[in-house]
Amino acid sequence: MKGSHMRKLKFYTDNAVPLEMHKVRIVQKLNLLPIDDRLKAISEAGNNTFLLRNKDTFLDMLTDSGVNAMSDIQLSAMMTADDSYAGSATFSKMESKLQEIFGTKYVLPAHQGRACEHIIAKVFVKNGDIVPMNYHFTTTKAHIGLQGAKVLEIHYPEALIVESDNPFKGNMSPELLKKAIAEYGADKISFVRMEAGTNLIGGQPFSLANLKEIYKICKQHNLLLVLDASLLSDNLYFIKVREPAYQNVEIRKIAREIADNSDIIYFSARKLGHARGGGICTNNHELYMKMRELVPLYEGFLTYGGMSVREIEAIAVGLEETMDYDMISQGPLFIEYMVNELKQRGVPVVTPAGGLGCHLNAMEFVSHIPQSEYPAGALGSALFIASGIRGMERGTLSEEREADGSEHYSNMELLRLALPRRVFTLSQIKYAIDRITWLYENRKIIGGLKFVEEPKVLRFFMGKLAPVSDWQEKLVEKFKADLGDSL
Ligand code: F0G
Repeated sequence: MKGSHMRKLKFYTDNAVPLEMHKVRIVQKLNLLPIDDRLKAISEAGNNTFLLRNKDTFLDMLTDSGVNAMSDIQLSAMMTADDSYAGSATFSKMESKLQEIFGTKYVLPAHQGRACEHIIAKVFVKNGDIVPMNYHFTTTKAHIGLQGAKVLEIHYPEALIVESDNPFKGNMSPELLKKAIAEYGADKISFVRMEAGTNLIGGQPFSLANLKEIYKICKQHNLLLVLDASLLSDNLYFIKVREPAYQNVEIRKIAREIADNSDIIYFSARKLGHARGGGICTNNHELYMKMRELVPLYEGFLTYGGMSVREIEAIAVGLEETMDYDMISQGPLFIEYMVNELKQRGVPVVTPAGGLGCHLNAMEFVSHIPQSEYPAGALGSALFIASGIRGMERGTLSEEREADGSEHYSNMELLRLALPRRVFTLSQIKYAIDRITWLYENRKIIGGLKFVEEPKVLRFFMGKLAPVSDWQEKLVEKFKADLGDSL
């Protein structure tokens, strides 16, 4: 985006819809199986959307990770990659782009986001430590746990209120941070982590004012602030449109101000930069040297870090494209459209609309299903049967059991419908809205699930479940009664 003012596009009639500022030049054919085959596919997948085959899926809304559409400039850059083991010119391109955007001198490559978390946890997290954060992410928490430390979530109560109008549910509470420092002592705190576009509460942003306040407290107590910038593109957009002080500030300047209020920035380039990889940035030589030691050990040499050089080329271009308002607004605008349309039809969704995807509130949607029968997982299975759309359960199924084997009921029961950036057209979103609405009107038919194969660790990836009754056959029957021979 040129100039500093927010771009607005008005329609002549009042039926404004989000408008794609790109055209599609490479396509992939999709299959929409008939409903009986969809039932068969989800049954064979043990009612777990992770186990579905992509060829049986119509709209893949499982995740936005590594599946965002790439630009023509990214694809052409991939062909020019310099694939030397050491001293690759390609790495220098990514390094200078990160230095330019974040103003950070040092850049370390890693093969994806969790690899950055692994390195950061190994260097900074000690047994018995506490790591305060606005909200955890699954892989972050796992790496901190492996070091024998605990995550402390210190958000505002609004973060967990599913339907809210708070524009910055990803904010950290400064009062709770001060309290934690007083209670545990700064020497017990490895670092303070802020996650941009807070994933697990529905892609909700933090404000720049909040980040600055948290950073100030960190500096008063000599604590490091680590920023997870994986979902930074959405957060940049939300700061610009929701935080009045930044309405007329360029995206590039907002990004720089965020970086100036962080000590270490890491990211999954499966999200930020629209390719596949990761990286860690800092301006502090001492911190850099500590982390650098581990990169050749776990990731690869310092000029590729486990990534293909073609991906590194694509990341360098993708990062520059993230500074373009037209590019980063597409995801949030499509999600906002989907959320608003569903809300108008009475469907319970996470509000305000965030980044990453549209999140259905299964606790309300199928309020008759107890948490012990995995409402969000059941809704995911039902939605696949009704539409061929693959979502991701983010509720009790995604939690681990307690040490005594009892269930750990999740704060929220969400079905995440990710909208990988620039991948779906508005007619596909309209189809999704239509089928979700049909399902909502027939929600009483949906029943629960029970495990038939339950892995001990990260059970949501590979676990298999079965319906508690014949509700799936009844759902198919009702679909045929309402929609005849439609796919
Ligand atoms: N941090 C955040 C906020 C993430 O959303 C993810 C990944 C990671 C770190 C880990 O990065 O996958 O490259 O190792 N989120 C994906 C998702 C998996 O589907 O939301 P990674």
